[in-house]
Amino acid sequence: MDVHPQPTAPEPTALDADLIRDRLKSAGQRTVSVRVAPEVDSTNTQLARLRAAGETVDVLIAEAQSAGRGRRGRQWISPPGCGLYLSLFRAFAGPVRRLEALGLVAGLAGAAAIQQCCGLQTGLKWPNDIQIDGRKVAGCLIDLGGTDTLPSAIIGIGINIDFRGQTGPEQPWTDLRQVSGHVPDRNRLAAVLIEQLSNDLQQFDARGFVALQARWDRQDVLVGRKVEAWGTGERVIRGYALGVDQSGRLMIQAADRLHRLHGGEVTLKTRQ
Ligand code: BTN
Repeated sequence: MDVHPQPTAPEPTALDADLIRDRLKSAGQRTVSVRVAPEVDSTNTQLARLRAAGETVDVLIAEAQSAGRGRRGRQWISPPGCGLYLSLFRAFAGPVRRLEALGLVAGLAGAAAIQQCCGLQTGLKWPNDIQIDGRKVAGCLIDLGGTDTLPSAIIGIGINIDFRGQTGPEQPWTDLRQVSGHVPDRNRLAAVLIEQLSNDLQQFDARGFVALQARWDRQDVLVGRKVEAWGTGERVIRGYALGVDQSGRLMIQAADRLHRLHGGEVTLKTRQ
């Protein structure tokens, strides 16, 4: 029997903070302090530690995470070189309830960066999953800090780039190589993501989610679908997703009434 060796996937180009900074500078972005680490437990956790220690790092990116964190206590599988694992710190004008839709803004920026670097169409599944052809390719995790009047956030985004046969998450997932046949340059993707996120956050801080809502509506994969949602210890809400409102809450038309759900508290399943 002939055995055809599997073509070995090329090693990914190493992440390089200088390259990312140069790209940002030529795109006219204000100076952001970008740091690249070979491995951390979680870029969100490590960036919080660095800031607490007085370091002025704005963006932390790692080649690998040993304890990458997903939403609702889940793990984010983060093998070396297989994805982009990036966290960005930003302070906002208060009060903190203004930041309710921050996860959606992060999802929008991630989706825009993927579109720009890979030419792919993305879908957004509330509150902050980025999908391609119905499979999750990226997710966002927001850790809030600061005070009610001077809130801040660490915005973490993980994008699956090329898992090269490694085991991925349990839910239906994909990576950018599988869907496009190409592996994007991670330094370019990082720079485009930082630029997009900075611009979107500025608009969000100035005008709220409503400034970005039309972009969400165009990519919303849930509208019209039957969904089930539940938070901790709450009863299940079953109904049809009607899109998001101006605060970024998911509207579900259930048998009893129209429900509006906050992102942080809900697990969601779609039904046929
Ligand atoms: C999710 O979809 O459950 C959220 C995933 C968020 C993953 C990113 S990777 C960079 C940052 N660091 C973490 O530990 N998590 C986020």
